[in-house]
Amino acid sequence: MPSPSRVLVTGASSGLGAAFALACARPGATLFLGGRDAQRLGLVADAVRERGAEAAIALVDVRDGAATEAWVRGAAPLDLVLANAGISAGTGGGQAETAEQARAIFATNLDGALNTGLAAAAVMRGQAPGADGVRGRIGVVASIAAFVPAPGAPSYCASKAAVDAWAVATAPVWRREGIVLTSVCPGYVKTPMTASNRFPMPGLMEADRAAAIMLRGMLAGRQRLAFPGWLAVAARLVGLLPAPLATRMLGSQPGKEPAASP
Ligand SMILES: NC(=O)c1ccc[n+]([C@@H]2O[C@H](COP(=O)([O-])OP(=O)(O)OC[C@H]3O[C@@H](n4cnc5c(N)ncnc54)[C@H](OP(=O)(O)O)[C@@H]3O)[C@@H](O)[C@H]2O)c1
Repeated sequence: MPSPSRVLVTGASSGLGAAFALACARPGATLFLGGRDAQRLGLVADAVRERGAEAAIALVDVRDGAATEAWVRGAAPLDLVLANAGISAGTGGGQAETAEQARAIFATNLDGALNTGLAAAAVMRGQAPGADGVRGRIGVVASIAAFVPAPGAPSYCASKAAVDAWAVATAPVWRREGIVLTSVCPGYVKTPMTASNRFPMPGLMEADRAAAIMLRGMLAGRQRLAFPGWLAVAARLVGLLPAPLATRMLGSQPGKEPAASP
């Protein structure tokens, strides 16, 4: 399986996106790294270059569809794209989510993934297929949270459920066009996003390990990559329970903190 040469990652300035960029960094590769924090993006670009790859950073807000599309088109041709940028917040303390918080989470996690994934697919349709018939690979980062409507993080879970369902349902049609689409559903990963969680995080794993699993799964052409598998199965089983029962089980976990400014 050939290593991807031209790779674009959103949310590359931190956590999983930064770890994924490093997992792809090798001599001969060019990494297009997007985010909003220039300083953190610059540090990731330096680390990518230390591994012998080229790096180009872009300050792009994935909620801005036109800017995201222009950036993705400008990076063509692309072998692999990871729509990873995301935010999380919840109802810690039992308060309802504010309208601002709910809309910010959907705009980033759902619209941002679509803005990136749809632009990437348009670019890849114009590329010649390789010997394996693949024009390019796209991963959209959902979450195992997609499988459970947890009262502690309503918009987060719902936005990830939408991303996962869209990607899994779209993948077979895109595959016929030579585009491999993967719904990436990680469990708990040690990143700034989970650093403030004050509840148990079963199966918590390091970001570089998660990034390696993601890269391997995308190159293998997985339609959905949910890991660790046992946590995905447990989440699915909870999701099958009658809603009041599932709510009681999930509600026993304190919620994610509300965002001051999501
Ligand atoms: N950590 C976990 O346990 C876990 C589990 C499952 C899924 N995920 C998903 O994995 C993805 C990465 O999360 P993480 O844990 O690595 O969190 P993180 O360390 O907080 O990183 C989030 C990244 O998203 C970027 N971002 C946020 N809003 C953006 C926007 N509007 N435009 C462009 N970039 C934006 C941030 O960039 P700037 O700071 O530069 O804006 C940052 O690089 C998210 O989609 C998250 O939901 C995480």
